[in-house]
Amino acid sequence: MAEHTFLRGPADWWRQAVVYQIYPRSYADQNGDGIGDLKGITSRVPYLKELGVDAVWLSPFYPSELADGGYDVADYRNIDPRIGTLAEFDTMLETLHAAGIRVFVDVVPNHSSDQHEWFQAALKAPKGSKERDRYIFRDGKGEHGEIRPSELVSHFGPTAWTRITEPDGSPGQWYMHLFAKEQPDFNWDNQEVRDDFIKTMRFWSDRGVDGYRIDVAHALVKDLKNGHLPERQSYDVSVMKNDGTDDLFDRDEVHEIYKTWRKVYNEYDPPRVAVAEAWVHANRRARYASTEGLGQSFAFDLLGTQWNKKKFHSTIDYQLKAAAETGSSTTWVFSNHDVIRHATRFGLPESALANLPKWYRSADREKQINVELGFDRARAATMLVLALPGSTYLYQGEELGMQEPLNIPSEQMQDPQWFRSEGSISRDGCRVPMPWTSTGSSFGFGPGGSHLPQPAWFKDVNVEVQDKDPKSTLALYRTALRLRRGLVCAEQFTWVKHPLAPQVMHFKRPNGWQCITNFGTKPFKLPKGQVLLSTKDVVDGKLPANATAWVK
Ligand code: NOJ
Ligand code: CA
Repeated sequence: MAEHTFLRGPADWWRQAVVYQIYPRSYADQNGDGIGDLKGITSRVPYLKELGVDAVWLSPFYPSELADGGYDVADYRNIDPRIGTLAEFDTMLETLHAAGIRVFVDVVPNHSSDQHEWFQAALKAPKGSKERDRYIFRDGKGEHGEIRPSELVSHFGPTAWTRITEPDGSPGQWYMHLFAKEQPDFNWDNQEVRDDFIKTMRFWSDRGVDGYRIDVAHALVKDLKNGHLPERQSYDVSVMKNDGTDDLFDRDEVHEIYKTWRKVYNEYDPPRVAVAEAWVHANRRARYASTEGLGQSFAFDLLGTQWNKKKFHSTIDYQLKAAAETGSSTTWVFSNHDVIRHATRFGLPESALANLPKWYRSADREKQINVELGFDRARAATMLVLALPGSTYLYQGEELGMQEPLNIPSEQMQDPQWFRSEGSISRDGCRVPMPWTSTGSSFGFGPGGSHLPQPAWFKDVNVEVQDKDPKSTLALYRTALRLRRGLVCAEQFTWVKHPLAPQVMHFKRPNGWQCITNFGTKPFKLPKGQVLLSTKDVVDGKLPANATAWVK
């Protein structure tokens, strides 16, 4: 591998990094087949550089049948031919690195695709074979094994067990899948599985990849000893044990795996980094973020938070304390490829937020959104977290203040969650391809249409329009990321209290940098100093409601 694909620099570059998530199939399509590709991403490096992000995280781009948008990986050390080639990956990496942008890739260790050569081999091999031992195969119950081994449900709905047909044509064993049936779970008690993921980490690290986002990091190790099989109807964190002995999630033993990965990461200069997607009790998250483990773990608290000062305040306090205890740094995130975009969430009434599937199914769901309010609050919330210590993860399109596209007809939906949950909610909206221009096929996404339908209002919400407008959300993000580079130098943080304005959140950072967010309804007189940025116009020195300002 060419030495120049490595990006050197301080080992702790990740602590305060702004990481921009790219959903490769929906970013930029170079060859016009309607699917975003690596060449498309490479062509957008100047845009990413101007935006000012420190790193990008790419959702899976591996060969996949797309049963779950690429989170069903058929080959961990290759590129989906519809998305590109390894040579194109190297070019993309080199171009990003040359622009000073680091790269995270997504690793999906809990399950593979059913098209993975190991699963295909398991189907052909007999019961009890070493091929089947890499996955979780069990006999069914009942006289002929016709009853599924346990009542475990899949996260996407119905059962987590699927029965196979044995090579001789007879109905056979069952395999476990916490997600879609095309995503068989690996057996992490199997050493070959462990070794293979180390190989994968080395493969991408040798190419120059800087970091990893670890999918469902809390699920790898399961208690399957002595014939035990987990039974579970809900994956809600509240029903998960929080002492490391739950039979399905967040078991203490999972950290033994991450220690072995950490050793590999530390062989590189700078050490490779990782961030865990771990839906666990808040008090257990620190284990994933430990310096002996993955190093960071997403703070998902804000994905469900309402626009509420008290909730933001307690989340910030908790996260900063937890990060300090483990030597990690926090990871702020409002949007990703799995949730309704935060500009829409913040425009929903509390009742809708409390039960998003119910809101999603309601006939008047669009009427319930206060678009303007959601837009204002989303901008204010993002500027608030960008002023906090720690790293921030942004999701493609949020820099345009984008709402969730809700116009996808059910026959064009792709999300397995939509199908397996009988239309309760779909993640396709937040995966609609990026609008780059006001006109043209697929608003500049590519010359050949888009794999998910884009809304007509993209003609007003796109990069081309916002690029020219100094008051646009794109301009706001660019300014914020540029200023942040100059301002972030230490992680100090102090609250400033305003007993007479309890709905105002105010904190100080080093070098006189202050951030003020108005969660209340009345304008708030800003402290003395230069207003570096504001999400709404400051009038007579006052910050309007639902806005954030940076002052120095
Ligand atoms: C979490 C990913 O973010 C999501 O998109 C995926 O469906 C599941 N893990 C399963 O891999
Ligand atoms: Ca393409």
